Amino acid sequence: MLIQLILALFSILLLAIFIVLGVLYLLESFYYQGNNRTVYMGSNVHEQAGILEEIISKYIGKDTSAYHLVEPGAGMGYVARFLGRRFSWKSVQAIEIRPLVMMAAKLTHYIQGNRPIITWVRGDIFGHSYPKPALIYCYLSDQVLNQLYAEGALEGALVICLTFAIQNQKPVFEKKLASWQGVIRVYDFRKSIGKKP
Ligand SMILES: C[S@@+](CC[C@H](N)C(=O)[O-])C[C@H]1O[C@@H](n2cnc3c(N)ncnc32)[C@H](O)[C@@H]1O
Repeated sequence: MLIQLILALFSILLLAIFIVLGVLYLLESFYYQGNNRTVYMGSNVHEQAGILEEIISKYIGKDTSAYHLVEPGAGMGYVARFLGRRFSWKSVQAIEIRPLVMMAAKLTHYIQGNRPIITWVRGDIFGHSYPKPALIYCYLSDQVLNQLYAEGALEGALVICLTFAIQNQKPVFEKKLASWQGVIRVYDFRKSIGKKP
């Protein structure tokens, strides 16, 4: 009887935590929805792994250690984690505006083994100082992506964009994906700061 009561209380507690987190997540989503900021889904890293490796080997080469890796709008930071593990970088930065999402990203990161060193930046991708040279991975809405480009944040970087495109810029690489995430494009803005490293 006592065990059943404890189990029932425990289930109610779990349900309450689940509901509170769900409500907070929804409130956070509504709060940050302004300016078309939010695309809710994350990248399908499994599908993209081979393509990302192909892009890096083609446009950076075997030695990636001179490059910073930046994921603006990192969400759960899946891509930063995957590429951080797979290659060696000068630094890895994951920037995310939503506090709850960032907390969840950090939590999943710290409970995992074999974790790369990532600098988690909780804040806006606009007005951020982007290190150079960098590989910048973007899965951001058209509007956010183009605003980032207009701000000059992508200058001097090799930029990988999932699904969305930078207006009036010609990608150096484009590949269709089998999934609904559509297409991966690569833009090479490294020339804009002179030479490629
Ligand atoms: C589509 S998700 C991509 C997540 C991750 N990059 C991936 O590929 O799995 C876009 C993320 O960008 C974040 N975001 C959108 N605008 C932002 C901004 N101005 N500053 C920081 N993060 C932003 C959103 O909160 C969301 O988590």
